Amino acid sequence: MDKQTRKFDIIEDFDRATPIFSKWKPSPGFRKIFDKSIIKTLGLLKKKNKINILEVGCGHGTWFGVINKLEFSKKIMYTGIDFSEKRIEAAKKFFKKDKKAKFLAADYMEYNDNKKYNLIFFIEVFQYLHKKDFLKFFEKTREMLKQNGYVVIIDKEKYSMHSFKIFLGKFLKKLPYYYKHVHYPSFDYLAKLGKRFDFHFIKKMNVKEFNALVMKN
Ligand SMILES: C[S@@+](CC[C@H](N)C(=O)[O-])C[C@H]1O[C@@H](n2cnc3c(N)ncnc32)[C@H](O)[C@@H]1O
Repeated sequence: MDKQTRKFDIIEDFDRATPIFSKWKPSPGFRKIFDKSIIKTLGLLKKKNKINILEVGCGHGTWFGVINKLEFSKKIMYTGIDFSEKRIEAAKKFFKKDKKAKFLAADYMEYNDNKKYNLIFFIEVFQYLHKKDFLKFFEKTREMLKQNGYVVIIDKEKYSMHSFKIFLGKFLKKLPYYYKHVHYPSFDYLAKLGKRFDFHFIKKMNVKEFNALVMKN
C-alpha cells in the first residue's frame, strides 16, 4: 500500500472508531507514564508566565483533560491537532467551554502555525507513522520547538512481548480493524534520531507496556 493510501485508510479508521474511542480512559500504567514523563516535564516549566503546548495526534483530547486539572493550568495554552476530523469534533465538544484549548484537524506533516512551543508531545502516534516519515516528524518538531523546549514521545516498544502479541493478533486476524496499520517504533532508534537532530537526551523510561522518551531542544 503506498504512503498516501495508507494515510487515508488510517484517517478513515479513526473517523469510524471515534464513538468507540470517545469512551476510552487510560489504564493506570498509561496514566503513570504520562505523569512520570509529561507532568514531570511541565513541572520544570511551571515558573514561566505562559506555557505553550502542542499535542500531535490528540484524538478526542484525553490528555488535555488531565493537563487542565493541574494547579498551574491557567498558564497553559494548549493546541491539539489530529488528522481525523471526527476525533477533533469530539474533542471540541468535550472542551467547548475551555478557552485555553484549541483543537484543529490537521496532518502534522503539513502543519504550520508560525508558533513556537515549550512542549510538543506524541502519545501513541509514532505507531501509525510510515517509517519514511520519522525524519520529517523530527525535523518539524525541531522547527516548532522553542529553545530549551521539550519533546516527549510515549508509545509501545517494537522489540517487546506486547509488540509480538499484537503482531500475532494481526496475523491471526483477532484484532479490531484499527490495529491493521500499527507498527511500534524502536525507542533506541527514536533516541538515535533525536541525537541526529541535536536534541539533548533527558531520559527514557518504561511502565508496563509503555515507553517514554524525553528530549530537550
Ligand atoms: C492511537 S491514537 C492516540 C490518540 C491520543 N494521543 C491518545 O493517547 O488518546 C493516534 C492518533 O494519532 C492521529 N495521527 C496519526 N498520524 C497523524 C498525523 N500525521 N497528524 C495528525 N494526527 C495523526 C490519529 O488520527 C489518532 O487519533
